[in-house]
Amino acid sequence: MNVLALYSSPRRNSNSTFLLKEIMSAVKEKGVHTTTEFDVAKMNIKGCQACEGCHNPKGNGGCVVKDDMQQVLAAVKQADYIFMSTPLYWWNISAQLKAVFDRFYSLNKKNDLQGKTIHLVITGASEEDDIGYELVNKTFMEICDYIGCEFKILIVSGDDSNPAQKNEKAIAQAKAIGESL
Ligand SMILES: Cc1cc2nc3c(=O)[nH]c(=O)nc-3n(C[C@H](O)[C@H](O)[C@H](O)COP(=O)(O)O)c2cc1C
Repeated sequence: MNVLALYSSPRRNSNSTFLLKEIMSAVKEKGVHTTTEFDVAKMNIKGCQACEGCHNPKGNGGCVVKDDMQQVLAAVKQADYIFMSTPLYWWNISAQLKAVFDRFYSLNKKNDLQGKTIHLVITGASEEDDIGYELVNKTFMEICDYIGCEFKILIVSGDDSNPAQKNEKAIAQAKAIGESL
């Protein structure tokens, strides 16, 4: 499988990035998958301009905004399994990941997205039963239903006082996800 990982936390000691990296280490250890990784928080990715260029002859079926998202879109098209990691920000995903997701608007649902799996790794300061994660879960379930993707989620409570790096249960969950591919 082609496995893509998109990290979206702006922080160096990020909980969400750490957990997705644990997953990707396990994926790579299997030695059977092709992997691609982008730290989208460090890339130049503008928000969708809603120009509809992608849906008219000007864009020729692609996004007309020529920034780093072009590389991500190419990788999304190739991917079978797409991991995304994000901190929970104000009951939602990070602005960095939202910008990436909005740009999926330029993709063709049937040819570029349908049949893939999107697996979100989300960390927040709140406990795992907090409504914030539930709102994100519901939003992604709706989006994935619309674009024909399977959706999975790993929710982990963590912040600087309770870092994922010391959360043995979360690390084991991450490794198990990577090994299961
Ligand atoms: C702007 C901002 C908004 C946040 N909003 C929430 C929130 O709504 N709910 C929550 O549980 N934690 C919230 N947090 C805490 C982060 O989600 C938490 O520290 C998370 O583990 C950070 O992930 P990271 O280490 O991958 O960046 C917020 C943090 C910031 C900086």
